[in-house]
Amino acid sequence: MSAAADLPRAAASTATVRAASAEDAETLAAVAAVTFGLACPPSMTRERVKAFVAEVLSPARFAGYLADPERHLLLAEGEGKALGYVMLVSGEPGDADVRSAIRLRPTVELSKIYVLPEAHGTGAAALLMARGLDWAAGTGAAGVWLGVNQQNERAQRFYAKSGFERVGTKRFLVGGVFEDDYVMEHALAPHP
Ligand SMILES: CC(C)(COP(=O)(O)OP(=O)(O)OC[C@H]1O[C@@H](n2cnc3c(N)ncnc32)[C@H](O)[C@@H]1OP(=O)(O)O)[C@@H](O)C(=O)NCCC(=O)NCCS
Repeated sequence: MSAAADLPRAAASTATVRAASAEDAETLAAVAAVTFGLACPPSMTRERVKAFVAEVLSPARFAGYLADPERHLLLAEGEGKALGYVMLVSGEPGDADVRSAIRLRPTVELSKIYVLPEAHGTGAAALLMARGLDWAAGTGAAGVWLGVNQQNERAQRFYAKSGFERVGTKRFLVGGVFEDDYVMEHALAPHP
């Protein structure tokens, strides 16, 4: 499975989503390498983006995320090609700003959702979001939180459409420099 560089939009609009497994580590890293920079403000240098991808989004790091029982990764595909992913992390946030901003416990972090540009606006992200929220609800969580760069207006709009509201701010270290994020939270209905 490889990330789709030339995927027709029709394929993206018929996306399916499945749980990722250990065999998907390379594919997830390939999607992350293409998409992480899209979430960053123009002021962020290519070197900082590259350093973050190499350190945090390598195939080896994804192999570790896939083996972590607190994490769940979902992969969107269209016509056999990867379109995007979402990673969810159960548990109390490590970041003190997030701990004081969010109101719902237990919580799950949506960390985060990355879709290839050719699949933006096709519904693939909405499908990943719906499945991610379902998984979080299934863990018994009362809420889902996320951090989003304050300049990433497209993602903020997508999260607002998906039912998240802004509850605070935090800082996010990329390549040795802090970026300013909004913290957003989504309440979950009690799971039957
Ligand atoms: C964030 C992401 C998953 C959303 O998926 P998507 O398919 O683009 O989402 P949608 O098209 O359904 O929604 C985006 C909304 O933002 C709007 N939008 C697009 N560009 C925008 C901009 N520059 N400013 C404000 N809103 C914008 C779209 O019109 C749409 O709103 P609408 O449905 O009301 O018209 C996807 O854009 C992505 O992967 N981006 C790159 C990585 C990233 O930023 N991930 C999030 C990290 S926190």
